[in-house]
Amino acid sequence: MTGTDLHSAAAQLLRWYADMGVDVALDDEPHDRLAETATIAAAPVRAAPGGVAPRAALPAVATPTAAPSDAAQAARSLARSAASLDELRELLGRFDGCALKTTAKSLVFADGNPQGRVMFVGEAPGADEDRSGVPFVGRSGQLLDRMLAAIGLDRTKVYIANVIPWRPPGNRTPTPQEAAVCQPFIERQVELADPDILVCLGGPAAQSLLGITEGILKSRGRWSSYDTGTRTIRAIATLHPAYLLRQPLQKRLAWRDFKAIRAALAETAAKD
Ligand code: URA
Repeated sequence: MTGTDLHSAAAQLLRWYADMGVDVALDDEPHDRLAETATIAAAPVRAAPGGVAPRAALPAVATPTAAPSDAAQAARSLARSAASLDELRELLGRFDGCALKTTAKSLVFADGNPQGRVMFVGEAPGADEDRSGVPFVGRSGQLLDRMLAAIGLDRTKVYIANVIPWRPPGNRTPTPQEAAVCQPFIERQVELADPDILVCLGGPAAQSLLGITEGILKSRGRWSSYDTGTRTIRAIATLHPAYLLRQPLQKRLAWRDFKAIRAALAETAAKD
């Protein structure tokens, strides 16, 4: 092979990786994921019965090879068993029922203040969040920070999470199975954080948490109620910052929503 052939073969391989959604190197060493999956599959599929057993004593909880309904059922029991946000993060870190975990570098659980009165939920982490393990740190996160600042908030006052806690490869849309398996965890996360106000960033979060199926441009800015499992709180959907980066003229709509959030927070504070 000549140098030019090698160069062209390497370029073709890189193009194929990019087409397949492989756009970031996670580690210096290659991993044989098929062999790892086979090892995990040999362990019994089980959910933690009640409390959290020590990490070493437990096999991975549910495997990506389990039937989707088994994985979703395991996710439900596991999420319910978490008594605190720390425990939920720990259980989620050990949960192997979602294949997205195998391609992601980090579990992106949450950022901000879990005692904050308002909780923002996005769709799924991107490459920057996957690298850092922190939600909304890339360009859309920086815009979110500026939007928060415009209504007098910052990450010491709000809690931030995603419906899906692992980055889908190449930022593809999560499959319905992946979304179904992650759903009980975000629901439990909202219940345990217990905010007064829930804000869904973008259509997918609004669909998953508020059951909104119409377009986000229609549904944004409308208050609804959300049952956390222990109480009913106020909820609103607004435009995702990534969308606003592409469509800056729509920021005026998001600004209306953020002013409504500021007013609702002032109302709740006045009641306390
Ligand atoms: N987009 C999201 O929905 N979540 C993040 O954490 C980052 C970008």
